[in-house]
Amino acid sequence: MVRNLEQRPDTVLGLATGGTMEPVYARLVADYTAGHIDFSAIRTFNLDEYVGLAPDDPSSFMHYMRKHFLNRINIPAENAYIPRGNVADAHAEAMRYEYAIVASGGVDLQLLGLGANGHIGFNEPPAILSSLTHVAALTQATRAANARYFDKPCNVPRHAITMGVGTIMRAKEIVLLAIGAEKAEAAANMIEGQVHENCPASALQDHRKVTVVLDQKAAARLKHAR
Ligand code: F6R
Repeated sequence: MVRNLEQRPDTVLGLATGGTMEPVYARLVADYTAGHIDFSAIRTFNLDEYVGLAPDDPSSFMHYMRKHFLNRINIPAENAYIPRGNVADAHAEAMRYEYAIVASGGVDLQLLGLGANGHIGFNEPPAILSSLTHVAALTQATRAANARYFDKPCNVPRHAITMGVGTIMRAKEIVLLAIGAEKAEAAANMIEGQVHENCPASALQDHRKVTVVLDQKAAARLKHAR
């Protein structure tokens, strides 16, 4: 990613939130602080945001992104896009966001985490694999997994605006990271299973330029790991 940014300082990055990404942002911030990267010309599009949360809500993805990345580098605020969760019409916001991605020329490099249920973004199974940015209902399992970012589990929103699988597939290059045993089944389905709506990440098998990075625990269920 650092090489991408060195070669093309106006790269359009697609970004994710979550525990997996925290060390990635820490590393990019360290590289910036050491003077190795300049973020002044990049544009970023985050995958998703909870419906109903304002950008300054401590549980919002905007808050996460500012805390871990955006406020610690020299990206102009207007270059960092995240769906607005606190709008009157979330469906219209989803369409506006999809259009903004297209108008930017499209995502050059998309970072993804992997849900234990095989989701990418908030495309929960069963997912429409051609979907564009839309309002998605979160499964109970995903709400439970993300409850750590909220004061009470019942405060986890039930809906999010998310790039669709189709939106993600239009990125020119994708890097997916997954860490830990709870991702092992999803990682095996994603890589060795059929492309199927029950594992939204399996759609990536049809993408022309994907890198998947797994730790040993996340790779433990692969039959052909070697
Ligand atoms: C986050 C997102 C999700 C996460 C996934 C993994 O913006 O869209 O798909 O990438 O849920 O989350 P962690 O890394 O917390 O396990």
